[in-house]
Amino acid sequence: MPKTIIVTGGSGQLGQSLRGLVGSEVGCQYLFPSREQLDLTDSVSIDAFFEEKTFDIIINCAAHTAVDQAESEPELADQVNHLAVKKLAKIASSRQVRFIHISTDYVFNGENFKPYIESDEVAPQGVYGLSKLRGEQAVEASMPTNAVIIRTSWVYSEFGNNFVKTMLKLGEQREKLNVIYDQVGTPTYAGDLAQAIIHIVNAEGFNQPEFGTAVYHYSNEGVCSWYDFANAIFELSAIDCRVGPIETKDYPTPAKRPHYSVLNKAKIKRTYAMRIPYWKEALQRCLYALKEK
Ligand SMILES: NC(=O)c1ccc[n+]([C@@H]2O[C@H](COP(=O)([O-])OP(=O)(O)OC[C@H]3O[C@@H](n4cnc5c(N)ncnc54)[C@H](OP(=O)(O)O)[C@@H]3O)[C@@H](O)[C@H]2O)c1
Repeated sequence: MPKTIIVTGGSGQLGQSLRGLVGSEVGCQYLFPSREQLDLTDSVSIDAFFEEKTFDIIINCAAHTAVDQAESEPELADQVNHLAVKKLAKIASSRQVRFIHISTDYVFNGENFKPYIESDEVAPQGVYGLSKLRGEQAVEASMPTNAVIIRTSWVYSEFGNNFVKTMLKLGEQREKLNVIYDQVGTPTYAGDLAQAIIHIVNAEGFNQPEFGTAVYHYSNEGVCSWYDFANAIFELSAIDCRVGPIETKDYPTPAKRPHYSVLNKAKIKRTYAMRIPYWKEALQRCLYALKEK
């Protein structure tokens, strides 16, 4: 019997990246319900969708990801990033299936001076981070076994809106751009995260009769600031746009962002025998994919 895997958020960056990879997966059938089929703000819709289905894994890529907007719509952020996640975890638990949930570096306050490990103290600085943390906690409470929570950071891809696509557009229009240099983290190419998720789905440990629920960190390898990231985008795309370094205080936003959000990936690499690509090499692949599009 092929495994049936239900992926929420199939129209998002990570969802579309997964969709692009799973066509050739043998022994697995991936379903990508639309928001019309599965609306996470509507608990009746969630029940109705899962009621008549037989499945083995839920992968939750859906989220309210508009970090600044979340500050003015905390109920919606909580509904999608917390209450809906709690419901999905309860469904997964009652149906005795596995659950892979995606979370964020924004659960931390960004005051660390070395890469965050999974057990570091959490202290979200805004509505989005808090709602995602509550989502994580709901998964852990509802599913002491059989769930994998993956925190990631600075996601970009050839799909949707993201920093890379914004820089490419602005870089063609302007001679100079100012970009923040005092926020440091690691970009994550959604295509690489999607590969990592498929790797976990097929891993021996994940397919044991039962395994303990755990949090993992995943981003690409390396460290950079948004300023470095912008410079690399222009350099690799041969765009002639100068980048000026500015401080966070010179670019005020409704939501506070962490100054430091580098994630330590040792646990996921060790547990799932995974190799993670360096961020600039991943960026090169994304730029190539964008050109192909
Ligand atoms: N983007 C980042 O920089 C970043 C950083 C760290 C962690 N993450 C996490 O990584 C995961 C994937 O992020 P992403 O960048 O792929 O997100 P994304 O591109 O913003 O996609 C979000 C997805 O969630 C769906 N969604 C939102 N509200 C929904 C609802 N009420 N019902 C059903 N579906 C709904 C969206 O559907 P529609 O297309 O219909 O709106 C879309 O498919 C998320 O858990 C996010 O929190 C992202």
